[in-house]
Amino acid sequence: MNAMKAPVNLMEKITALCKRRGFIFQSSEIYGGLNGFWDYGPAGAQLKRNIRDQWWQRYVRNGHISPSGDHFDIVGLDASIIMHPDVWKASGHTESFSDPLVDCRKCKQRFRADQLPDTKCPSGGDHEFTEPRDFNLMFQTFIGPVKDDASIAFLRPETAQAIFVQFQNVLTVSRTKVPFGIAQIGKAFRNEINPRNYTFRSREFEQMEIEFFIKPGSDESWHEYWLKDRMDWYKSIGLSPRKLNLEKHEDSELAHYASACSDIIYRFPFGDQELEGIAARGNFDLCQHANATGKIPQYFDPDTGERFYPHVIEPSAGVDRIALALLTDAYHEETITDSKGKTEIRTVMRFHPAIAPVTVAVFPLLRNRPELVTKAYDIFETLRHRFIVQWDDRGNIGKRYRYQDELGTPWCVTIDFDTIGQGEPSLKDTVTLRDRDTMNQERVSVENLTDIIQERLLQPFTP
Ligand code: GAP
Repeated sequence: MNAMKAPVNLMEKITALCKRRGFIFQSSEIYGGLNGFWDYGPAGAQLKRNIRDQWWQRYVRNGHISPSGDHFDIVGLDASIIMHPDVWKASGHTESFSDPLVDCRKCKQRFRADQLPDTKCPSGGDHEFTEPRDFNLMFQTFIGPVKDDASIAFLRPETAQAIFVQFQNVLTVSRTKVPFGIAQIGKAFRNEINPRNYTFRSREFEQMEIEFFIKPGSDESWHEYWLKDRMDWYKSIGLSPRKLNLEKHEDSELAHYASACSDIIYRFPFGDQELEGIAARGNFDLCQHANATGKIPQYFDPDTGERFYPHVIEPSAGVDRIALALLTDAYHEETITDSKGKTEIRTVMRFHPAIAPVTVAVFPLLRNRPELVTKAYDIFETLRHRFIVQWDDRGNIGKRYRYQDELGTPWCVTIDFDTIGQGEPSLKDTVTLRDRDTMNQERVSVENLTDIIQERLLQPFTP
């Protein structure tokens, strides 16, 4: 038998669980992996989808009422990843989307000059670094069969620019007026010099960005609005409030066109790190694209008759970082004692039920008893129209509970002989409903099962 290396710290344990339960795999693992790229397995893909759905539902699907009581819209966009290369010239990315890079002359490794390692050089002694030089983070590719300067294009390093580039089209079709937002979820690519901290800094990742267009002069109050709203959203998906923080950028750290920027910070096991940046970016991007193309006229305000280029507030979040924060927040180990006095460590992922990759697991007590399986299928069929449901008929019930605990499934339903009227007569048409967090098991009627789960799904969640 292979001896497994004992996980030595929390991140190693979480990484091991993510692999074991299908949240995250190394990209191209069987070819040795690819640094800075990750694949999400069945549980991770659903976790990310739930994050995106929570965000889209809150911001795009539902209308909004502003603090002053007016209605405003946020509409969706799904733009291409490769855009005209001139977009990145106008936005400033071609010129300055770079990190300072240094090489070690001895071991030939490359590092970000602002994130130098505190370890010794593998070739012996201290590293010998070159002077820093700018390294552009955009991934380059070629469009069409000819690889020359005229066919160079870039994988987008952020989803935001497409929103500015399509501003006029979206405004024309949306019957909306300032203030309003355009939201987009999609992949972004950055050729990070040192990907690190698991999925935290990757070379391919997903962003959820809103450009919220406002009247110039209302920047401060709308920035405050978005800081509060976004913090509330993070709490609503179950992140521990005590691990969330806002960090304001100093004026000296702001880009020349920005009037304010704050980051939403989460306390990861590897330190306090950014989940999202919320910037008041003025009208820099819109004006850049207007100047470069001559195709974005000033906005006409139907209420005041003024013409202007709207300013923006930009809440810009990373789906992968949110997933990682949820995974680290949810991870719990606890010592439990069974009825015979035996103790064991239970690993349980305490996700918010709306975020958990599986909402309900359905277990027929025995897989080789058709009468149990048939009844369990009936229940499975009813539940799967409302919830994310998983069928599990392998191993004993205790093992199935442990498996679902590691997936973070809030409820498990067991169909046994009592359910089908072959046991205690008073328990006919009831099932065992087991709660992930309390481990309580209760008998509930099959008839009420969907409503009970639905009601619990809506109850306040304490991480
Ligand atoms: N449009 C603004 C913008 O892109 P950013 O602070 O560079 O701002 C926004 O990125 C968010 O995207 C970050 O807060 C983070 O969640 C995510 N992100 C950025 N670089 C990332 C990377 N290399 N790996 C994973 N997520 C990243």
